[in-house]
Amino acid sequence: MTKSGQLWGGRFTEGPDETFAEFNNSFGFDCRLFVADISASIAHANGLEKAGVVSHDEREEIVSGLTRLLEEESSFENYFDESDAEDVHSFVEGKLIDLIGDAGRKLHTGRSRNDQVATTFRLWVRYETDAIETLVRGLQSALVDLATRHADAVLPGYTHLQRAQPIRFTHWCLAYFEMFKRDRERLTDLRKRVNVLPLGSAALAGTSFPIDRESIARELGFDGISANSLDAVSDRDFVVEFTAACSLIMVHLSRLAEDLILYCSTEFGFVVLTDKVSSGSSLMPQKKNPDALELLRGKAGRVFGHQMSLLAMLKGLPLAYNKDMQEDKEAVFDTVDTVRISLHIAAIVLANATVNEERTREAATKGYLNATELADYLVKKGVPFRTAHETVGNAVLYAIGEGKELHDLRLEQLREFSDMIEADVMTALSLDAVLAAKNTVGGTSPERVAESLAAARKYLEI
Ligand code: ARG
Repeated sequence: MTKSGQLWGGRFTEGPDETFAEFNNSFGFDCRLFVADISASIAHANGLEKAGVVSHDEREEIVSGLTRLLEEESSFENYFDESDAEDVHSFVEGKLIDLIGDAGRKLHTGRSRNDQVATTFRLWVRYETDAIETLVRGLQSALVDLATRHADAVLPGYTHLQRAQPIRFTHWCLAYFEMFKRDRERLTDLRKRVNVLPLGSAALAGTSFPIDRESIARELGFDGISANSLDAVSDRDFVVEFTAACSLIMVHLSRLAEDLILYCSTEFGFVVLTDKVSSGSSLMPQKKNPDALELLRGKAGRVFGHQMSLLAMLKGLPLAYNKDMQEDKEAVFDTVDTVRISLHIAAIVLANATVNEERTREAATKGYLNATELADYLVKKGVPFRTAHETVGNAVLYAIGEGKELHDLRLEQLREFSDMIEADVMTALSLDAVLAAKNTVGGTSPERVAESLAAARKYLEI
């Protein structure tokens, strides 16, 4: 080694250009992989002893040296700041050699940074997959809490952002619960493909040392080992899958945010946020803006951008490892930081949201949201649906002209449109009846919604 932490000086006659070194080095950001790199290095050292490459004592020295680095990192602030290491792998190896000398120089036997970075990154992404899954769960539980606080609230349901049919507010909450449930399933599923050990693939061809890869995999909690060394060092599918799952989380968060932004406006007036999660205007004294929600909506874009940059970075790369792949780190780090804070903030916003139940109830009874119910009523009396649709359309047109809701028309007025309409129509058109009628599985009747809320609680084990 030419200098501490430099892994490849032997065939070079001069050091790197300063600007190139800066361009090439990744330690400024991949130092986040420090703990994962040490875990993988300890497992590799254990593997080297088992393969007869290092002695028992040398392994002890290596492992206690690596453990010491972990301690140093947690006790010194700015531990990484002074170093001009190329990347986290050179940093750890260099520090180890400085600390224990020759035994440290054996650690890289049968290993390349190519299988090392793949292993380390998989460990890190696995950890974050679990952490994000837990945060998604937290958000689901905030949705259940919000639904419980407003168990009797109703809401106009929309299509095309036009009032369509009334729904229970809980139903709206549980719609997002379902999205986040799928997000958790996606994370659990992709975790299986993240959790495969590349170590032992070395630079690209495998290693000449009899390393027991299965035992290293067990030690690091991997579900299995990669089957092809060329693929193992060049595969970043797991990163793309991970950011794809994160992108969908952000899609769902942005839709939740958008619904709430609308609901917080004076025009809707359905939801009030506490001051804790709102901001003011520097110019307009009356303003209270839902900035937290707008940022949730806006931050989705950067995660999609990372997803796209990863795909573009991988496209057309020849086998096996290429330095282009170092570009995966910052994309994933920023994705994780963005998704974590977004999930956290979303849960905080939900805890600070209150539904104006009177206003949402009123909105659910104005704008002909029971028109479909009137058509269904006629169908139940034997009228074909298409005919009923036309009849009710005419009735709605008439009611608009009168400036009244369907349920405000007198029975005789309604009967002008169909003599199948009888006195029981008034009950059928009431908000409660309309909601109760939507009793199919997955529908918005109070009975079904109560079942779904109970199922959601059971799923969360709360
Ligand atoms: N810093 C590199 C990365 O993140 C580690 C692997 C480098 N390997 C190499 N042969 N240059 O991809």
